[in-house]
Amino acid sequence: MKILAIETSCDETAVSIIEKRGSVFTVLSNIVSSQAKLHAVFGGVVPNLANREHQKNLVPVLIAALKEAKLYTSQKKKFPATSILQCIEVMRREAELVKIFPKIFKITKPAIDAIAVTEGPGLEPALWVGINFAKALAVLWDKPLIPVNHMEGHIFSALIRDEKGKNQKARFKIQKIAMPAIALLVSGGHTELIRIKKLGRYSIIGETLDDATGEAFDKVAKMLCLGYPGGPAISKIAEKGDADAIVFPRPMINAQNFNFSFSGLKTAVLYHLRDHPRAKKADVAASFQHAAIDVLVTKTMRAIKKAGARTLIVGGGVAANKQLRMRLQNECSDSVEVLLPSASLTGDNALMIALAAFFGKKKSARSIRADGNMKLGPRKVSA
Ligand code: KG4
Ligand code: ZN
Repeated sequence: MKILAIETSCDETAVSIIEKRGSVFTVLSNIVSSQAKLHAVFGGVVPNLANREHQKNLVPVLIAALKEAKLYTSQKKKFPATSILQCIEVMRREAELVKIFPKIFKITKPAIDAIAVTEGPGLEPALWVGINFAKALAVLWDKPLIPVNHMEGHIFSALIRDEKGKNQKARFKIQKIAMPAIALLVSGGHTELIRIKKLGRYSIIGETLDDATGEAFDKVAKMLCLGYPGGPAISKIAEKGDADAIVFPRPMINAQNFNFSFSGLKTAVLYHLRDHPRAKKADVAASFQHAAIDVLVTKTMRAIKKAGARTLIVGGGVAANKQLRMRLQNECSDSVEVLLPSASLTGDNALMIALAAFFGKKKSARSIRADGNMKLGPRKVSA
């Protein structure tokens, strides 16, 4: 069983193909083309620019993924005119993509069993390109289409383990999880605490009321002129700073719920910089990071305790943050296993979407066909 997955929810154009035999998965390809440098000029992701870039990138990224998976052969045979017209119709709003798409007509239908695509949450103009592209491929190749929730994908990125228990990409198994579990999902668009009874059954017990954690890192990095994306830049410069130099607020740390708020913390950094123009950047970055992580760790630990969780799953771009990883591992006692994605899988990728599709396959494949109506997110992970 092989699934080809497409991810375009933000600024990465990604395609991955994975195969499942028994309980073993093999990564046949995992291509990620990042637009980060392009958006950096604007200090953040510009949705319409992301849309245009996905349109330009999807065909070459798909071809690269098929080639790497050894599923690429060119053909002289023609697809039926009706399916060509149908897939052009599906992509009518993606003018650039329609121009490049005919390259796909020259490829033999690959030996895959289904196509998965991120349906949300994410930036709508970015999501639509991936969805329409996936729909067109599903029509052309007559494959079922599986919609995948992006945040569920981030959960799966933490479950990849090889037989020795280490993270590995080429061949892996899915970690058996002692339930119940808590997932902390921290990305550029989301901050969520999720209680998991079993894979596929999630309830959001807390989320951010304003900025997402990654967004706060990005905005503070902008104030410090550290460029975009801000998370990696902040954590790098923070290594040289004193995390206790400035005591920034820890919003909602004592609130008796699992929600977050990062906008006040961000404003506190802004005011500090206004009042202390000579402040050392490394100290500001380290102190901000310390405050943000304190809140994340405190609330996560409280959620683990309340749920009696036996596993903590961490996912999303901010899961790359070394301090966050270390703090969570240190705080969790031996009775709680901490599952972290490998560094290369913390950011957006299509491998995690393919993997989530395998598990959501049964219910989705039945209800959704390429020519059916697929409802666009942003749908959240929910029970
Ligand atoms: O999951 P992701 O790749 O995309 C979204 O779905 O949003 O997350 C991107 C976010 C960005 O805000 C980025 O600054 C943040 O993850 N990030 C980090 C680190 N690496 C990436 N934040 C803190 N520390 C890091 N090391
Ligand atoms: Zn993400």
